[in-house]
Amino acid sequence: MAAEKGRVCVTGAGGFVASWLVKLLLSKNYLVHATVRQPGDAKYAHLSSFEKASENLRLFKADLLDYNSLQSAVEGCIGVFHVASPVPSTTVANPEAKLLSYFLIFFLPPPSLSPPAAKQSEVEVIEPAVKGTLNVLKASHESKIKRVIFVSSVAAVALNPRWPKDQVMDETCWSDKDYCRTTKNWYCFSKTVAESESWEFARRTGLDLVAVCPTLVLGPILQPTVNASSLFLLKLLEEGLETMENKLRKIIDVRDLAEALILAYETPEAEGRYICTAHAVEAKSLVDILKSIYPNYNYPKNFTEVHEPERQSSEKLQRLGWSYRPLKETLVDSVESYRKAGLLD
Ligand SMILES: NC(=O)c1ccc[n+]([C@@H]2O[C@H](COP(=O)([O-])OP(=O)(O)OC[C@H]3O[C@@H](n4cnc5c(N)ncnc54)[C@H](OP(=O)(O)O)[C@@H]3O)[C@@H](O)[C@H]2O)c1
Repeated sequence: MAAEKGRVCVTGAGGFVASWLVKLLLSKNYLVHATVRQPGDAKYAHLSSFEKASENLRLFKADLLDYNSLQSAVEGCIGVFHVASPVPSTTVANPEAKLLSYFLIFFLPPPSLSPPAAKQSEVEVIEPAVKGTLNVLKASHESKIKRVIFVSSVAAVALNPRWPKDQVMDETCWSDKDYCRTTKNWYCFSKTVAESESWEFARRTGLDLVAVCPTLVLGPILQPTVNASSLFLLKLLEEGLETMENKLRKIIDVRDLAEALILAYETPEAEGRYICTAHAVEAKSLVDILKSIYPNYNYPKNFTEVHEPERQSSEKLQRLGWSYRPLKETLVDSVESYRKAGLLD
């Protein structure tokens, strides 16, 4: 039997990304402390079905805004993967934007929010993301955790109107907080502030922190609920939009992201931020690939051209030894998982 790898904590374990991370950690013989908000809820049942879960997985009830609950989950671990953050897919209270979610705002033009909706965003998205992340880091520091892997986002990288248009974005690029605020892009704002304050905390305390910044995450779902990024693909398959902007989508498979997180954890020389992205593909090309395999879904009918040269690079992550699977595999496995879950015919 392979040797046990040590005890690690994963926050927000029931979510799309974290579920794959937990599954992969268990398969690599880690002992996992998984935080969930409501243990016993059916939405976490899939976690106990993972191989080795009965021996090596322990669920902890924890909320990002409850420091003591996080401390109990982190205690006794040597590593922490901080994945939890609100990624809301609630509808924006704006008739023109009624099909958009807060999360999708990052991938589509932002609608304007009414003051009460903006206030709600602040409470529901920003506070758990920022204060919650600092709670996780503080608990990790106090429990003498050896390394924290923080799942940030390209949302903390790419919203920067001052970045030269012809230059590929690397880890030195940061989203502009004021720009996020004035465009009311609260998800990007929350991730940017959470990541920048994390680096400030790490500098102050000496905590070993590595941040991974994924682009749009697709791939098969393990959890029974639909997360915001999977909703993007489901809408593309089902919504039958009259027109859609032919924007460049930067896609990463959830399984390749989980591998990247573990690689960043296990590689001693890993440091700083890592953009995690695989395929940059225009919306129309994405639809063409899907149509060639699944011709009968209700795809967008027309595309309008947009000039969007902005690209991100994962070269730094690839230098650590990371690689990714073909896009077609991600798309097919996603669609098949939606069918299996009864989300698509
Ligand atoms: N999916 C993407 O395309 C993408 C791209 C870039 C970065 N990310 C980042 O990846 C991470 C995971 O996202 P995901 O796509 O897996 O979303 P998800 O499925 O919605 O998972 C989010 C998780 O965060 C937990 N959470 C939210 N608020 C919390 C709170 N106050 N206390 C404790 N837990 C809380 C949720 O718990 P419950 O299960 O209890 O609701 C859920 O498990 C996030 O940090 C996100 O910003 C995602």
